[in-house]
Amino acid sequence: MKSLAIRNLSKTYFDAYAGAHVDAVRDVSLEVPEGEFVSIVGPSGCGKTTILNMVAGFIAPSSGEILVGDHAVAGPGPDRGVVFQSFALFPWKTVLENVAFGPKMRGVGKPERERIAREFLSLAGLSHAAERYPNELSGGMQQRVGVARALANEPDVLLMDEPFASVDAQTRMTLQEELTRIWQERRSTVLFITHDVPEAVFLANRVVVLSKGRVLEEVDIPLPRPRRWDALVESDDFKALANQVLQLVRSA
Ligand SMILES: Nc1ncnc2c1ncn2[C@@H]1O[C@H](COP(=O)(O)OP(=O)(O)OP(=O)(O)O)[C@@H](O)[C@H]1O
Ligand SMILES: [Mg+2]
Repeated sequence: MKSLAIRNLSKTYFDAYAGAHVDAVRDVSLEVPEGEFVSIVGPSGCGKTTILNMVAGFIAPSSGEILVGDHAVAGPGPDRGVVFQSFALFPWKTVLENVAFGPKMRGVGKPERERIAREFLSLAGLSHAAERYPNELSGGMQQRVGVARALANEPDVLLMDEPFASVDAQTRMTLQEELTRIWQERRSTVLFITHDVPEAVFLANRVVVLSKGRVLEEVDIPLPRPRRWDALVESDDFKALANQVLQLVRSA
């Protein structure tokens, strides 16, 4: 695991339709210490995905820098695992082969990469589905395969952009609980993007509220772990924190 540092990051797009420049991200600085789980929340269009894409190395910043450990990000790399809203599994590969794909690309031999894949499938509660194909799974299960696949690369930093947005509310709560459990076991450094305030608070050590491309405020979430929804929905501390973040987002 490694820390993630975002320093004075900005991104200006040229919007060809409007014939104008858009300041999507403006001078954002953010530190995610090794093993910490940080959520970014904010209204649609505030620059969340743009930040994640720059950290992933998919797009270049207009200015500023991004460090994973002490290494400056210059493009995509195996030190960062990415989970998107759309699952993007390989439909022609089994679940096991999907999860073993990253280790395979790293040159890990077949028995070892299958052992790694089975370990992460087990963590994601999917051992029984290893030999199935993605189209034989529910959306929530596919989402868990996506998380297992990202984790199987053992990235230093895990980047997630609304990974649970397309699953039903019940499954979503289960996935959130599983993600916190897996995170506690593996202690990855995580940057998690969502516009769902309770989700952000439930998962994170710290919530960063973004407004029009800038950091509006950071809120520490000192709730005890492990976190379970049935306990937290009753918790005054949870409600107060969620309310505080919600007010910030609404003012954003
Ligand atoms: N490729 C692009 N070209 C021009 N403008 C863009 C491009 N991508 C994003 N933008 C603009 O940059 C701003 C930030 O977009 P971004 O996708 O980062 O927002 P977001 O916070 O992820 O929103 P959402 O919650 O809807 O996913 C928006 O105004 C958007 O229109
Ligand atoms: Mg987005």
